[in-house]
Amino acid sequence: MIVIKNSTWEIIKTIPWDTKKTLLKQLNESWVEISSACFTGICGACMCRVESGRDNIIDNFRWEAWFPLAPEEIMTCISGIKDENSEVVLQTIY
Ligand code: FES
Repeated sequence: MIVIKNSTWEIIKTIPWDTKKTLLKQLNESWVEISSACFTGICGACMCRVESGRDNIIDNFRWEAWFPLAPEEIMTCISGIKDENSEVVLQTIY
């Protein structure tokens, strides 16, 4: 499952994950409001923080990010999920 928290760490949604889709696509399909613009890892609009489950996230599921990220940050438009058997907790930033 993917647990989504807002900028004040309140849980806003829990959604099942799909290892074939980017995180942003899964969030959008589940009606989680998240900023996005380029869909290629360039703009940073879709950035989220990872609270837990970092090892289950593939950073370059589609492409590489265009600028360095802190270890807890991901671009959801280019990130995916490795393993369907554990939990990832994300915090939206914007
Ligand atoms: S939408 Fe631009 S980096 Fe993800």
